[in-house]
Amino acid sequence: MKKLMAANWKMYKTTEEAQKTCRELIELVPDSVLNEREVLIIPPYTSLSTVWEIIRAREGFSLGAQNFYPEREGAFTGEVSPLMLLDVGCSYGLVGHSERRHLMGEGEEFISRKVRFGIQEGLSIILCIGEVLEERKQGRVKEVLVSQLRSGLSGIQGRQGVSSVLSIAYEPVWAIGTGEVAGIAEIEEAHGFIREELVSMFGGDGENVRILYGGSVKPENASAIIGIDNVDGVLVGGASLKASSFSEIISS
Ligand code: PGA
Repeated sequence: MKKLMAANWKMYKTTEEAQKTCRELIELVPDSVLNEREVLIIPPYTSLSTVWEIIRAREGFSLGAQNFYPEREGAFTGEVSPLMLLDVGCSYGLVGHSERRHLMGEGEEFISRKVRFGIQEGLSIILCIGEVLEERKQGRVKEVLVSQLRSGLSGIQGRQGVSSVLSIAYEPVWAIGTGEVAGIAEIEEAHGFIREELVSMFGGDGENVRILYGGSVKPENASAIIGIDNVDGVLVGGASLKASSFSEIISS
């Protein structure tokens, strides 16, 4: 299984900047690396088409969206549907990112609707989960992760072939955009909890669901993180904005 190296550009970059970064990245990533890595670019909506035009010809690069609304079409001002995202080249959609949970108030029920609907419409979903610092201090990491998995995946429990349409991103909230990285042992433990729960929900196929780590991944720590058991890729924010640093991470 190829490791998934995902760039979450959040609310950064004009179309011109996105184009420039993407062109540089394509140059910097050699074909040999793409035998073992899948590169996923998740730009803001406004740059999806621009990015797709550049990466579509390069096998091993995919396009994803940071968000979507769980309806096909309708009177939902300001929202974008999975169908529209597929139409502009997306194959992936992020769900449950901590910024959407905490800043936009997205709750568990809405998150599970998005997972179910996104998959039903043909997107591959990356469900983000992770504890806040207080929960870690209280020794509740496993409880929080299991509960987020059970509720987020409640609409697809027991689904056949889930590993081809679902990945999980473990992002401890205290490590996102802070420069704080979870330690190797902490990452290994959390990914172990997630794997266990995935196997209990999906049987043997739960072994094949990719589990990404996210939270202050950078060129200096990427290869140690990628080498941890049950780490099948990374979700990178800040360090993915520059082609040079993201390409180093991809090649780690
Ligand atoms: P960061 O963000 O790499 O800037 O910590 C990760 C994310 O939010 O996906």
